[in-house]
Amino acid sequence: MAKRSVASAPVRGRRVLVRVDFNVPVTPSGEVADDRRIQEAVPTLRHLQTAGARTILISHLGRPNGQRDMRYSLRPVVHRLSRILGEPVPLASDAVGVEAIGAAAKLQNGQFLMLENLRFHAGEEANDPAFAAQLAQLGDLFVEEAFGVVHRAHASTVGVPKRLPSFAGFLVEREVRELSHFTGSPERPYAALLGGAKVSDKLPLLSSFVGRADRLLIGGALAFPFLAASGADLGGTAVDRGLDGAVREFLERSESHGTHVVLPEDFLVDPGAGAPPAVAPLGAIPAGAEIKDIGPATRRRFTEALVGTRTVFWNGPLGKTEEPAFSNGTREVLGSLAGVPGYHVGAGGDSAHCAQSLGVAGVFQYLSTGGGAALEFVQGASLPGLAVLPDAE
Ligand code: 3PG
Repeated sequence: MAKRSVASAPVRGRRVLVRVDFNVPVTPSGEVADDRRIQEAVPTLRHLQTAGARTILISHLGRPNGQRDMRYSLRPVVHRLSRILGEPVPLASDAVGVEAIGAAAKLQNGQFLMLENLRFHAGEEANDPAFAAQLAQLGDLFVEEAFGVVHRAHASTVGVPKRLPSFAGFLVEREVRELSHFTGSPERPYAALLGGAKVSDKLPLLSSFVGRADRLLIGGALAFPFLAASGADLGGTAVDRGLDGAVREFLERSESHGTHVVLPEDFLVDPGAGAPPAVAPLGAIPAGAEIKDIGPATRRRFTEALVGTRTVFWNGPLGKTEEPAFSNGTREVLGSLAGVPGYHVGAGGDSAHCAQSLGVAGVFQYLSTGGGAALEFVQGASLPGLAVLPDAE
């Protein structure tokens, strides 16, 4: 599974095209709101600099759908990157074309250049061979450092590495190493703690734990269809009832394969009309009240289910953590892992950001920079941006 490493790449004096995932949140005033993905790429960038590479960074930001939409410019990202590296990194105004070619040719050993958003070109997401060839001509070597996007078969993730000698960056190597624990034989007891929203999106992920994890704790809006399918009245909480059959079948399959599913038994609800949050047990949720967090009995139930585990995989908040009044369930359950010795990893969506903003990031051995890529990886999928890289010798 290990990929040929950037550590072994002959980079001195060469133009090295580095695919990074600098798809970070940017505020309306143009500030990077969370620079973790930039910070995590720095060891690879420093390595290339010290080794005398001429580094050309390529990334997407958001989903501009093949249009040159400056709301998705990488300018704010380059500002932050320059600050982090302590030197100005120039930004070429287009990912391909005369300006990019000229700027890449002028680079000196140890210097950096960033190119504007790849997704300003429809050819990026379409993995258009002509666009991939234009990108590839900018470099002598390619380094894949964008773990968050290796599940996409795009020009920059597949087309370019097919055309240039390619290597995995240190972040990609680390992600593969950490997440491979979950595709191998994790130390048991092994629990998966899953929250967030859409069950329809997450059924494949949930299914991947059946027969593999010992305990599957389900919170957040992800739990609603499971509770509704067993006949519970969830008050004014929106729930997708089209999934009743699928979730019932899932529960039966889990139990018959030895994966014990743990669901919430009470909640913190928003009664509406400006009333303060209230605790409501399952079976007594007031009409019109919306579930926004797990309740105290569920926090205990989840915390107890994690005691004694040796491996924990976490994805997704257990409540509406963006509203401080409904963030305690997630904070308390994750925080309890501090007292559970073992290997804890968080991955997917903005789980890492959530753990950081709740002050519980320290309970994890690793927080993945990947959203969909991390979740597909732990499901055992072959990811095109990894499959295309040569294996380590
Ligand atoms: C992510 O944030 O998960 C990656 O950057 C991939 O972005 P995408 O879902 O728009 O392809």
